[in-house]
Amino acid sequence: MFRNICRASIKFNVRFYSGELLRKRPPKILITGGLGQLGVECAKYLRGKYGQNNVILSDIIKPTEEIVKDGPYIFVDILDFKGLQKIVVDHRVDWLIHFSALLSAIGEQNVPLAVRVNIEGMHNVIELAKQYKLRIFVPSTIGAFGPDSPRNPTPNITIQRPRTIYGVSKVHAELLGEYYYHKFGLDFRCLRFPGVISSDPPGGGTTDYAIAIFHDILRRGNYECYLKPDTRLPMMHVRDALRALSEYLEAPIETLNRRVYNVTSMSFTPEELVEAISKYLPDLKITYKPDSRQDIADSWPQVFDDSEARRDWNWKPEVDLDNLVKLMLKEVKEKIAANGL
Ligand SMILES: NC(=O)c1ccc[n+]([C@@H]2O[C@H](COP(=O)([O-])OP(=O)(O)OC[C@H]3O[C@@H](n4cnc5c(N)ncnc54)[C@H](O)[C@@H]3O)[C@@H](O)[C@H]2O)c1
Repeated sequence: MFRNICRASIKFNVRFYSGELLRKRPPKILITGGLGQLGVECAKYLRGKYGQNNVILSDIIKPTEEIVKDGPYIFVDILDFKGLQKIVVDHRVDWLIHFSALLSAIGEQNVPLAVRVNIEGMHNVIELAKQYKLRIFVPSTIGAFGPDSPRNPTPNITIQRPRTIYGVSKVHAELLGEYYYHKFGLDFRCLRFPGVISSDPPGGGTTDYAIAIFHDILRRGNYECYLKPDTRLPMMHVRDALRALSEYLEAPIETLNRRVYNVTSMSFTPEELVEAISKYLPDLKITYKPDSRQDIADSWPQVFDDSEARRDWNWKPEVDLDNLVKLMLKEVKEKIAANGL
């Protein structure tokens, strides 16, 4: 009798303690496409939160010495399903942050490759997440909307008929993720980001002008913008983008009414950005020479309605236009000084 009570209590304790440990163990996170504009900063942010070795950066690009020093980095081609499986098993991955993609302007230059990376790649990671019960985060974009969508403001649920392969692949990812959630209970989470502004080189999107302008004016004092001066687009500083990603990933599942949310911080035009920068650098020379990216921008949201994210998981942006300009001037100056340019 006594022995039985002891056994029962040991069993209870083992279950209790292993449950506690599991709950307290930080998630092991794999970031795909991690050497792009968002991945490196995202790894830094999440390593600060969950520990250096719990966030694995991956890409198909050869890393710099600094990347290797900062924490684990491995080769991962998202088109190689077996390779992905091995990494998830070997590293006991819990969360997958899927950044690999060809962005809007680059995607239009190589549609077959965009289909492979953005659509086949998504098939691989979502199957993997289902098989190994991972929480999976896939970013979407304002580019998932098109000329038939309301543009000011663009609500969370509305018509989505994008005209770029990038946008088409992101709508596909959103729908596939929602389907896997309803059909298999997969913990799929997706944020539609606006143009994300950081001092790192952008990956070939339509909102890149808002980064390139800082690099060019600090190096040469002038910038030629490929969008018309009055082209309004939603934007956010990378700090807000990463905080949104992290808060959303941690939001309790029962608070979420959706799997896909709009998030944003602000909307501005090139001429409004120039005016904001002129407060700190009065002698700017800006010229405008619109190219094919103008057509893409003209089909995208001007103002993004993120009220559902604010309601469900308390999303609130912190960096406004003036702060964004101050941060970018400081960060880009530091980058230029570090690279000796
Ligand atoms: N940067 C933005 O403004 C923005 C806005 C909205 C959404 N997003 C989304 O966020 C994600 C990251 O964006 P980013 O700006 O860092 O993109 P990026 O273009 O800078 O980086 C993408 C990375 O994917 C990698 N990649 C390409 N093919 C691959 C393959 N076969 N296997 C593995 N990796 C591969 C590339 O090497 C690159 O490093 C993307 O999915 C993008 O759609 C970005």
